[in-house]
Amino acid sequence: MTFSADRPTMIEFKDVHKYYGDYHALRGINGTIKAGEFFSLLGPSGCGKTTLLRTIAGFEDISSGVVMIDGKDMAGVPANVRPTNMVFQSYAIFPHMSVAENVGFGLRRDPRSKAEKAQAVAEALEMVGLKGYGNRAAHALSGGQRQRVALARALILKPKVLLLDEPLSALDKKMREHMQVELIKLQRQVGITFILVTHDQEEALVMSDRIAVMFEGEIAQLADPETLYRRPATRKVADFIGTMNFIPAEILSESGDKVEVEAKGLGRATLDISQAPARTGETPVVGLRPETLTLLYDGQPAAERETEGVIDEVIYFGDMTYYDVYLGGTDVEVRLSMRNVPGRPVLEVGAKVRVAWSPQALVLFR
Ligand SMILES: Nc1ncnc2c1ncn2[C@@H]1O[C@H](COP(=O)(O)OP(=O)(O)OP(=O)(O)O)[C@@H](O)[C@H]1O
Ligand SMILES: [Mg+2]
Repeated sequence: MTFSADRPTMIEFKDVHKYYGDYHALRGINGTIKAGEFFSLLGPSGCGKTTLLRTIAGFEDISSGVVMIDGKDMAGVPANVRPTNMVFQSYAIFPHMSVAENVGFGLRRDPRSKAEKAQAVAEALEMVGLKGYGNRAAHALSGGQRQRVALARALILKPKVLLLDEPLSALDKKMREHMQVELIKLQRQVGITFILVTHDQEEALVMSDRIAVMFEGEIAQLADPETLYRRPATRKVADFIGTMNFIPAEILSESGDKVEVEAKGLGRATLDISQAPARTGETPVVGLRPETLTLLYDGQPAAERETEGVIDEVIYFGDMTYYDVYLGGTDVEVRLSMRNVPGRPVLEVGAKVRVAWSPQALVLFR
């Protein structure tokens, strides 16, 4: 992670609301995005990601609240004079133009000489790994190459903030993963603020310094990837990011900075208050990630905390095996993951197993 918390603020949202007619699309957005940060807006379809991005670009008026960019209130500031540029979901490049004409499109009213503009186009193409592609016809490019042209076209205008609305969603899995790494490198190289919209939680975790997780027009949590993964603020966030097991729990006592719980199938555990985010009034459950549970093989010494289980399902992934296991003679089923290493056999359905767990890995939702 290259992000440092003491960077200056680039974007600030203050209680931003947006209505489309009666529909309340943004419901009080607050938060800041730092200069030079790789920031993602993550959430399910329809939660308001594109709407929020468009309020930054100036393509969408807000109903109330304030959007600040680089210290200035953007109220009444039209899109074309904002220090932002947007790369769209369906990266509309012009197929009848050459690659260079596409990239230089935004410079058509630029007063620089032809030679200077050609130089700027060449630099932008080099930046996105398309050096020497200027004369190619845009329609003769692969999906990944078109995406790079769209990026070069946005970067040539030297925005302070680059807005990316699901820029990789049209690419196949391999190309998408490749472009994710390319985008991270590009962002480090140019150092400008990138704001990425995605509904793909893995993509957000891989790429971002920080992520705002959105549901139904609200930011549910704004944090760095590790915090989101290890300490999700709500059950909904936990469920959206990665896989999390939820186990019914009873709160036995709560005092100072400790919470004592009884988790069905696991047993008692004392949690630090940092493992118990703010109450939301839900029925209490503890959450734990598959990789925090471990199967103990015959002859392995007893773990500090372990419980018996029966394997209900085996899902083999090559490098990993996922097991669905009933815990301690209960109807509580958890998914756990084990790395496949030499000498560690894949177990079978019905096998009785020992499951080691750790109280520190639990998160309590209540
Ligand atoms: N111009 C519009 N008029 C009316 N409703 C709109 C308009 N644009 C968006 N909405 C509604 O606002 C909500 C948020 O839309 P938005 O496009 O921001 O979602 P999103 O999070 O980007 O979703 P997706 O992942 O599907 O792109 C949706 O319910 C959508 O139907
Ligand atoms: Mg969208």
